Amino acid sequence: MTHRAPVATVLSVIGARPEIIQAAPVSREIRLRCEEILVHTGQHYDARMSGDQITSTELPEPDVNLGVGSGSTDEQVTLGTERLVALIGERRPDVVLVRGDTSATLAGALAAERMGVPLVHVEAGLRSHRADMPEEYNRVETDKRSDLCLAPVPGAVENLKAEQVRGEIFMTGDPLCDMLERWRPEIEPYGDGSDYLLATVHRNYNTDDPVRLQGVLDSLGRSPWPVKWPLHPRTAAAIERFGLTVPGNVDVLAPVTYREMLALERGARAIATDSGGVQREAYLWGVPCITLREETEWTDTVDQGWNTLVGVDPVAFEAALSAPIPSERPPIFGDGHASERIAEQTLRLAAHVNTAAVSTIQREGWVS
Ligand code: UD1
Ligand code: UDP
Repeated sequence: MTHRAPVATVLSVIGARPEIIQAAPVSREIRLRCEEILVHTGQHYDARMSGDQITSTELPEPDVNLGVGSGSTDEQVTLGTERLVALIGERRPDVVLVRGDTSATLAGALAAERMGVPLVHVEAGLRSHRADMPEEYNRVETDKRSDLCLAPVPGAVENLKAEQVRGEIFMTGDPLCDMLERWRPEIEPYGDGSDYLLATVHRNYNTDDPVRLQGVLDSLGRSPWPVKWPLHPRTAAAIERFGLTVPGNVDVLAPVTYREMLALERGARAIATDSGGVQREAYLWGVPCITLREETEWTDTVDQGWNTLVGVDPVAFEAALSAPIPSERPPIFGDGHASERIAEQTLRLAAHVNTAAVSTIQREGWVS
């Protein structure tokens, strides 16, 4: 007699670099429990932003690429929603899972809503309280529509409660922490031990405004150590468009793969960034971070003394380089098992069955 477990199907959306990188551990845990349809909206498409990242993180090849590509945020959301609606209609998943705050995230949320499919938001509840970031709108609108808000840190739970979102809220920890802990034993620090500063910059308000971008360049120019700068395509285009000059101490690189980035982070004397992911990774490595923003969603890193917000002010930047390094670094991003909780909660929503039973049946190979 064939024993067939009630297998659920999760349609899981990725689109931009940070979603691709965080997807691997979650995908692995979902596939241990049920079926995953991994959908890439195609928002990021260069090999260094997408294909090489899939290889570097050992994420399975996406089942579908919707070819959304570049455009305004509205265009990406509209096209992504339209194509996801069609795909959901065809594949009939039990649940849609989105993560983070990109155009792909909001497109997934809107498509799930339109098709009446339950929605899970991973990395729910983060807020910058900054209206000129498309990400802030994407997060708030996604959280409003989510049946399950999976928060990485306690502060995110508090934000969701304060907004009285309609969905259930769970604290899971951060899957980016799971990812780093998975690779930590295999990553050797980059270089020969000489000091360098690692930089990444791509926030819309730092790149679209020539005055702010000049402030970023002037700040990097103040580094007493050589700077390694893997350049995001958005930033490369902006430097060219505004005719700006990169300071002589800055070594511009093409975007690097995830594992190359981990090595660069691990070997760095300090990290200057406006990336959400890189701020957390700096903390996880114990490398001081200087954030080229006036605010951050990841406030615990600042509260713990490992991250300094300097905006694009070269004087504040230089002062932050000599800030004392704290002696403590508590595990603010969880225990490295966030992805398991995310998969369990998602399956609970998707299948309305006892998740432990399904996992056991599948692990014993009872599902054909
Ligand atoms: C997007 C996300 C941002 C995230 C970032 C991660 C939104 C609104 N923003 O910003 O939250 O932090 O990704 O990297 O979703 N480009 C290429 N090749 C690519 C991709 C992009 O050349 O593979 C260039 C194009 O000129 C494009 C520009 O980069 O117009 C910006 O790309 P886009 O995806 O719109 O936004 P990001 O700035 O990458
Ligand atoms: N990253 C990378 N190569 C780079 C720059 C960043 O692999 O050249 C990784 C980084 O280690 C982190 C993720 O990209 O895991 C963060 O994504 P990004 O900075 O693009 O977006 P954000 O986190 O700001 O949304």
